[in-house]
Amino acid sequence: METKLLPLDVDSLSQGAALIRRGELVAFPTETVYGLGGNALDEAAVARIFAVKGRPADNPLIVHIWEHKQAEQYCHWSEQAQQLADAFWPGPLTLLLPRKPIIPLIVTAGLDTLALRLPSHEGARRFLQACSLPIAAPSANASGRPSPTTAQHVQTDLEGRIPLILDGGPAQVGLESTVLDITCPHPMVLRPGAVTPEQVAMVVGSCDVAPSVMRPLQPGETTLSPGMRHRHYAPKAQLSLVEGDREAVAAYICRMVDQQPGARILAMGVNVPLYAGRQVDDLGADTHQAAQRLFYLLRQYDDENVQRVWCEALPPTGLGLAVMNRLARAAQFDIRHAGV
Ligand code: TXA
Ligand code: MG
Repeated sequence: METKLLPLDVDSLSQGAALIRRGELVAFPTETVYGLGGNALDEAAVARIFAVKGRPADNPLIVHIWEHKQAEQYCHWSEQAQQLADAFWPGPLTLLLPRKPIIPLIVTAGLDTLALRLPSHEGARRFLQACSLPIAAPSANASGRPSPTTAQHVQTDLEGRIPLILDGGPAQVGLESTVLDITCPHPMVLRPGAVTPEQVAMVVGSCDVAPSVMRPLQPGETTLSPGMRHRHYAPKAQLSLVEGDREAVAAYICRMVDQQPGARILAMGVNVPLYAGRQVDDLGADTHQAAQRLFYLLRQYDDENVQRVWCEALPPTGLGLAVMNRLARAAQFDIRHAGV
């Protein structure tokens, strides 16, 4: 199959919508990462999403809508959902709510809950509206690769497997949406993203964070988010994180890198001078830039066949929690402490 990559405009949007209505898949930009969309009401289209990505069938998909009032068609809405939607939609927040039967079970991997999201990306919303259907869309990467933050990333992973990629430029956030379970007594973040637990708590009073966000699952432990069972964000390189005092971290990483020719360093911009004379990649000036750049840099390491990466840990607060969640998984939880 030929894969077209077209800039998102009136023409490509109508081509995309026509493909979706025929049961085909289309990759489209969102503010978080690129999505691989298909008609959520069409079991065959959804089955194709799993097949194209090589995604395990027990990992449910997010359904995307373009206006608030659609939500009640697909799930049992609540007052708390309304408060959160008023505060954060459109935007990078996915809400878990009780599923209505109109959504086929293949979408939710057999679960009674549905993950629903209203993205803020203008092009995404125009695409969804042009389709006039609820769109099931996981991140548009091949399973096990970092989520795509550019149309070129999607092309690398899915070329020949889908008919169309809509190019809306680089993703603004760069990390996937926050997944928030509001079917339990206290809202709980299952996957951290740009809408932070702190912000959620300001709206609904409290917000828990699932323990599996920052540590591996223990043997026999179950998780509320099937996505946590699978190993995501797996770079080719062996990655280690180092936490601690700024100078101690830099000294530790320098010691390691000096024994491992070819090893790379991922560091915040202000710390780059601490690694003088070594190969260091700049995560940016703040956590927002780090979020934007992370998947891009991890893919670059794959392309360059980098074997070893040492990365500074970030404080796991605000958006830093989302960055650290992805980094910790990419590092298979190899997090070291640089002593004084
Ligand atoms: O930002 C995003 O969320 C992007 C864009 C395209 O919207 N989508 C995305 O989808 O990241 P995906 O499929 O890569 O990640 C969805 C996550 C998975 O970890 C999945 O396990 C979880 O959401 N999820 C979906 N439905 C769920 C459900 N009913 N219960 C628990 N977790 C669910
Ligand atoms: Mg994904």
